[in-house]
Amino acid sequence: MRVLGINALFHDPSACLVVDGRVVAAAEEERFSRRKHGKRPLPFSAWELPGTAAAWCLTQAGLRPQDLDYVAYSYDPGLSESAEELGLHDPWDHLRQRYAREAPSFLASALPGLNQEKVRFVPHHVAHAASAVFAAPGAATGSVLVLDGRGEATSHLAGRRVGTELHTLASQRLPHSLGLFYEDLTAHLGFLRSSDEFKVMALASHGSPRMAAELRRRVYSTEDGGFRTTGVDWTEFAPPRGADEPWTQAHADVASSAQLVLEDVLLDLARWLHGQTGDDLLTMAGGTALNCVANSRIAREGPFSRVWVQPAAGDAGTALGAALYLTAVDGIDPEPMAGADLGRGWSDAELEAWLKTAAVPYERSDDVAESVAEALAGNQIVAWFQGRSEFGPRALGHRSLLAHPGHSGNLERLNDVKGREQFRPVAPMVLADRAAEIFSGGPFPSPYMLFVHDTAPEWRDRIPAVVHVDGTARIQTVDPAADPRLAAMLRGFERRTGLPVVVNTSLNTAGRPMVDDPRDALECFGSAPVDLLALGPFVVRRGRMFAGDR
Ligand SMILES: [Fe+2]
Repeated sequence: MRVLGINALFHDPSACLVVDGRVVAAAEEERFSRRKHGKRPLPFSAWELPGTAAAWCLTQAGLRPQDLDYVAYSYDPGLSESAEELGLHDPWDHLRQRYAREAPSFLASALPGLNQEKVRFVPHHVAHAASAVFAAPGAATGSVLVLDGRGEATSHLAGRRVGTELHTLASQRLPHSLGLFYEDLTAHLGFLRSSDEFKVMALASHGSPRMAAELRRRVYSTEDGGFRTTGVDWTEFAPPRGADEPWTQAHADVASSAQLVLEDVLLDLARWLHGQTGDDLLTMAGGTALNCVANSRIAREGPFSRVWVQPAAGDAGTALGAALYLTAVDGIDPEPMAGADLGRGWSDAELEAWLKTAAVPYERSDDVAESVAEALAGNQIVAWFQGRSEFGPRALGHRSLLAHPGHSGNLERLNDVKGREQFRPVAPMVLADRAAEIFSGGPFPSPYMLFVHDTAPEWRDRIPAVVHVDGTARIQTVDPAADPRLAAMLRGFERRTGLPVVVNTSLNTAGRPMVDDPRDALECFGSAPVDLLALGPFVVRRGRMFAGDR
C-alpha cells in the first residue's frame, strides 16, 4: 500500500510517502526551492504543488508515480464554503477553492504517469489529526486536538483514535480561530503573518499580561468543546508596529496577554476532550501546536498524563497525516514515527565529492563527534550536518548550528551569525539521561523541542546562553540509541566542560530555509562566521579555508 501525501493549498507545501503504514520519506518544498515556506499563503499561489519534494519522495523509495495506490491531498474542496458564509475577509478565496478542485489534474501533470483517479481529498483537519494520533508512539487509543488557522470551514478538531479509526468529537466553525487570532496579532506587531508567530511567543516572555482580562471578553471557550475569538481590535491594546520599528513595552504586554488567553482556552479544550474520552494520551497538531509555551501548560496543568505533539505540526505535516489517514482507512495500522529525520541524506562518498567540487580544504576526522566536542569546548561555533534532514520547522541535530552554552555572549553571537533579532532565544540539546537533573516542569523525553522546561537554579549560571529571561529553556533530549553520533558529541563536550548540554539552533541564516543539501551547507558556511563545518565524517575549518591552504 503506497500513499503519497501532498500539502499544497495554504502554506508550507510538502510531500510524504507512506509504504505499508511506514513513513519512508517526507520533505518540505522550501528545502529544495530555497524559498522560505515554499510560497506566500495567498489564494493566487494555491495551485503551486510541492513537485520537487514529491518527486524526491518517490525516488527515495525507487517508485514511479504509476506505482502509487493513492495520492492523499490534505484539503477537501467538497467541504468548503464561501469566505462570506464563513465570515472571513478573503475576497479571492474562491480561487483557492477552484485550484483545490483542480488539484488531481495539476498533480497528474506534475507527476507524469500518475492517474488522477488515484487522488483522494482528505479533510484538512482530519489530515492534521492523523499526523498526530497515527504517528505518536503508543497511541493505539488516544485523543487528538488540532489547533489551526483554518481548514475548509473550521479551525479546530477534537477527536479520538481507536485502532485504525479516527472519530471527530467536536470542531469549531470559522470565523472563530485561535490560529487566525494569533496570526492577526503577529501582523499587528510588524511580523510576517503565518510565518513569524513564534516571534510573538518570544516577545511575550518580555511582557506582562496586563490586558488579559480585557481580551478574555472576546476570546474564550464555550461549553461544547469550542470557542469564540472574534471582535478583537488590536489597536485598542497597542499601536501597530512597522516591520523596522523597535518594539515597545506595550507590544510585549499585548503579546504576553494574548499568549496567556490562548493558553487558558487551550487548557479548557483539553479538559473538555478528556471529559469525553478519559484517555491517558493527548496528541496535538496544527500550527498553534508549535506554541511550546502553551504545550507545556497543557502537559503540566491539563488532565492527560502524556502529551505528544507532531514535530511538523504546521501544514507541512498534513502531507504525512493525509497519507497515514488513507493507510488507516484501508485497515493498515500505521507505524509510529521513529524520528523527524525523514528528509534527504548523502553517503560519505557523495559528501566528499561535494567538498572536492567546492575545492575547500577538509579532513576526514577519525571521530567527528570528538572533533566537534573539542571545537565547541574551545568556544567555536559549529555547523553540524549529519544524516537525513529534519521534516518540520526545528533543527534536531541533523542540520544544526552548535555552540558552548556556558558563555552568555553566545546567544548574541549566534543571533549575529544568523542575522536575526536579538530577542530570539536559542535552545539546549541535552543527553536524555541527564535532562531531569537540570530541567523540570515539562515532559521527558522531549526529542522535538516542543515544550519549555524550567532550568534548575543551580544550573542557570552554568548554561546562561540557553536560559530565557524567565528561567525556562526549550529543550531537546538526545537519546543515544536514536542518535549515537549526536550523543557521542554531547558526551565528549561534557567530558571537557562538565556540561551535558550544547546550544542548538537551526542551520540557516535569517529569512532562508534550513540548510538541506551539502551545497546549502557550504554556501552557509562560506557566508556566515562559523568556525567549523562537520559534514558527515568530514571537517572543514574556517581558519584553514581562508589561509590559502588547499
Ligand atoms: Fe492547517
